Amino acid sequence: MDIRRLTDRLGGLAYGGDYSPEQWDAEVWKQDDELMRRARINLATVGVFSWALMEPEEGRYDFDWLDAHLDRLHTAGVAVDLATPTASPPPWFTLAHPDALPVRPDATRLTHGSRDTYCLASPAYRRAARRIAAALAERYGDHPALALWHVHNEYATRCHCDHTAAAFRVWLRARHGSLDALNEAWGTAFWSQRYTAWEQVLPPRASQWHRNPGQALDFSRFWSDETLAAYREQRDAIRAHSDRPVTTNLMLPGYQNLDLWAFGREVDVVSVNHYPSAPGVDAAAHAAFDADRARSFAGGAPWLLMEQGTNTVYADGRVLAKDPGDVLRHSLAHIARGSEGALFFQWRQSRAGAEQWHSAMVPHAGPDSRTFREVTAVGEAVARLGELAGSAVRTEVAVLHDSDAWWALTVDGLPSSELDYFAALRRAHRALWDAGRTVDFAHPGHDLGHYRLVIAPALFLLSDVNAHNLRRYVAAGGTLLVQHFSGMVDERLHSRLGGYPAAPLREALGIRVEEYRPLRQGEELTLSDGSTATSWTESLRTEGAEAVAAYTDGMLDGSPALTRHAFGSGHGWYLSTRLDDTGYAALVGRLLSEAGAVPELPGLPPGVEAVTRHAPDGRSWHVLINHGADLVPLPQAGHDLLTDGPVHRLPPGGCAVLRAH
Ligand code: GLA
Repeated sequence: MDIRRLTDRLGGLAYGGDYSPEQWDAEVWKQDDELMRRARINLATVGVFSWALMEPEEGRYDFDWLDAHLDRLHTAGVAVDLATPTASPPPWFTLAHPDALPVRPDATRLTHGSRDTYCLASPAYRRAARRIAAALAERYGDHPALALWHVHNEYATRCHCDHTAAAFRVWLRARHGSLDALNEAWGTAFWSQRYTAWEQVLPPRASQWHRNPGQALDFSRFWSDETLAAYREQRDAIRAHSDRPVTTNLMLPGYQNLDLWAFGREVDVVSVNHYPSAPGVDAAAHAAFDADRARSFAGGAPWLLMEQGTNTVYADGRVLAKDPGDVLRHSLAHIARGSEGALFFQWRQSRAGAEQWHSAMVPHAGPDSRTFREVTAVGEAVARLGELAGSAVRTEVAVLHDSDAWWALTVDGLPSSELDYFAALRRAHRALWDAGRTVDFAHPGHDLGHYRLVIAPALFLLSDVNAHNLRRYVAAGGTLLVQHFSGMVDERLHSRLGGYPAAPLREALGIRVEEYRPLRQGEELTLSDGSTATSWTESLRTEGAEAVAAYTDGMLDGSPALTRHAFGSGHGWYLSTRLDDTGYAALVGRLLSEAGAVPELPGLPPGVEAVTRHAPDGRSWHVLINHGADLVPLPQAGHDLLTDGPVHRLPPGGCAVLRAH
């Protein structure tokens, strides 16, 4: 396990953040050494946005300044996560290679002045990125401070330029083999879109109305592959000179530019950035959601929270401050779910520049501040959790997460603008989190046999192979909940004919959906069990399933809304509408209990988060966070690593890490 090499090197969990000494002077560096010691920093990410300093003009590298900082950090006992600076090419690069600037779908070519302004498919950019990665690796590959390589920063941008078009065509030829096959896959018989030469095929640029959905889906797949290829080139350039593990910090936003399963397979260590999108308990639920995703993309292995903010909650166009204690609660929420540490963007709040108002571990006010005091206390706490390193999380519950289905649900021409893959994922996860369960995310093609319950929200696109996999899962004893508008199209986005969803899944669910019927905005229907339904309905008939709840008004009066089918040794459930929160929570609760998925630490009231990490040698730890307003007695007393003493109850907002018996 590559992350083990990191924690062994650090002697415990990682604590630290992005460090940009180039923004400061010698006096501040001296203070940094002292403050890092006080905050128990053991890992600093250096160089992320330092291209202009590292390569002041094309082909001329200047690493003297970096030598000095790496040596200084090493002397101060801080290991280095060394970044390649390729997320922010300097202005000279733009002027020398204007064709490497990214182009939007509407043909606007961007220019420098921000960051991330490059086209990943541009040969000049790729050459420059490989070169600087190799130069860094050659110089620092064996540096004693070096613990981890950090390729790039948050791969996320897309481009629609001519370089992209050329690379897209190469990818399409490999995928489809012939232009005829591409025409068939994209359904170009509609609207006279037939291509008669490869040069006619373009990225999905701005056009008059709905763009071809097959083209859009293939472009998403292509761009993820292209991004992965760009990552691999840098990784391999580094590996030629260095044996330290390599990561890239992934962003887990509400949109999907990368197939994160594929990235998870290619990095030595999965690392992610997390910034909550709402304050309070919603921030905690969001942290759990992203942390569960990170662990899942890591194949269950421990991973690393590469960035969070000390006071950064992005909500409603504002950057809200975190509540006192949140830094510890959020750090623990990630560590509970397998993160081998807690790192921040950034160490010292910038005095100038585009992110000068972004929070940091050392704020503008300096160390005499609430923030730095909390940072120091959390550093102390993380230092006490070293024995958790290498332990893993187990769970019996999974939510399906598929890039193809997500991308497919973003194409033009869908029957409702309320079909939102990310929102459906968040909702399923939130209901399980509220019910006190730790959740894995799984791909519909994974072996699901060890899960008691699997939820498939918005699995719009589903291949035959994966539909058979889900059928097998139910037949073998699993409980599967499939939610509306799932299994509607195959991997080419071609509709399933003869009734939805895909035939193998229909068998497992014992239903046949005949018609989808989005509701008007604000329209609400009552179901026979008293719950309400909004947004979407379907006309379906049961073919072996029992109707658990039915529609009670409108055209669908009396027809099944929620069904349950005993199939093989398992159960296939189908929910053809969007239930209100209470109804959805009740359904999830029933599924958990019917499937026999019990919490690992029973006896806790709602609002107390509890996740268990298990070491290969049988030791385990319960990480507990009380989000409620009451003092909570613990079902079992235990030794709390945070206080190094016994703990019997948790105050509101309180946390504990119990060494389990
Ligand atoms: C991302 C980036 C950082 C910084 C933060 C701000 O995670 O990687 O460079 O911009 O966002 O939230």
